[in-house]
Amino acid sequence: MADDRPPQEDEFSFHTGTVRPSEAPDAIEFIDVHKSFGRNHVLRGLNMSLPEDKISMILGPSGTGKSVCIKHIVGLLYPDEGDVIVHGRSVPSLPDAELFEMRKKFGVLFQDGALFGSMNLYDNVAFPLRQHTEKSEEEIAEIVNSRLREVGLGEANEKMPNELSGGMRKRAGFARALVLEPDIVLFDEPDSGLDPVRTALLCELIKEVHAENGGCYVVITHDIMSARRVAEHISVLWKGRIVESGPAQDLFASENPFVRQFLSGESTGPLGME
Ligand SMILES: Nc1ncnc2c1ncn2[C@@H]1O[C@H](COP(=O)(O)OP(=O)(O)O)[C@@H](O)[C@H]1O
Ligand SMILES: [Mg+2]
Repeated sequence: MADDRPPQEDEFSFHTGTVRPSEAPDAIEFIDVHKSFGRNHVLRGLNMSLPEDKISMILGPSGTGKSVCIKHIVGLLYPDEGDVIVHGRSVPSLPDAELFEMRKKFGVLFQDGALFGSMNLYDNVAFPLRQHTEKSEEEIAEIVNSRLREVGLGEANEKMPNELSGGMRKRAGFARALVLEPDIVLFDEPDSGLDPVRTALLCELIKEVHAENGGCYVVITHDIMSARRVAEHISVLWKGRIVESGPAQDLFASENPFVRQFLSGESTGPLGME
């Protein structure tokens, strides 16, 4: 089947589809995914694997479809063609009830933390537990307080979201994303709108929490410094496909002109202003 595909442009020569050097099935797999919005062909035959138990980063310029990828993983968008597989199950083929069950696997941290403005911090973090579990308020209190302490917000229980800084809102969103002990945690540009020091601290926090809990972490960013700090596995997305994907050290040593330009932030190379 691979032989029927048209030859690909040079810049995608590293892209060979879903390869499994470790033979272990990956937590998340995109297989030949196409997605258009009207005439805007965003994902153009995307093959991408995100390994189990590692911090993976999806890097790419703004508007390349990184958020669109996350929405496919959680079943908020469906591919026009191809498949998205999470822990061996095709997300687009799941009946609604099973999709609802599967979503409990995910902790998602959206760009602004996506807190409910009318609830204090404690209630925001408790919300998924009250919604999805039968736990008592005592059990909930233990989990919520320990998660808030873990992200350095142990003293901020009563604060309303509008009383928090951007960095605190993100950490609160992170605490909330963790309360159901998700197998997969998705971060959509956790570093956006943060100054470099707070970004570095958030990256450290992501690493610490991952070391403690394990699982497949997927961090989407266009920030190379964040990638250097936390990524164990990197996929570079451009024009709707993966240019190159693999262990972080391999990507930082890549010979691919686009990957080199993008990861070094140089102004000369295949990536232009268009
Ligand atoms: N629901 C939608 N309807 C129409 N166009 C969309 C939708 N979601 C994303 N797009 C378009 O898809 C492209 C990729 O968007 P996005 O995934 O948000 O980029 P980014 O890589 O910056 O996260 C953009 O051109 C955006 O306008
Ligand atoms: Mg985005």
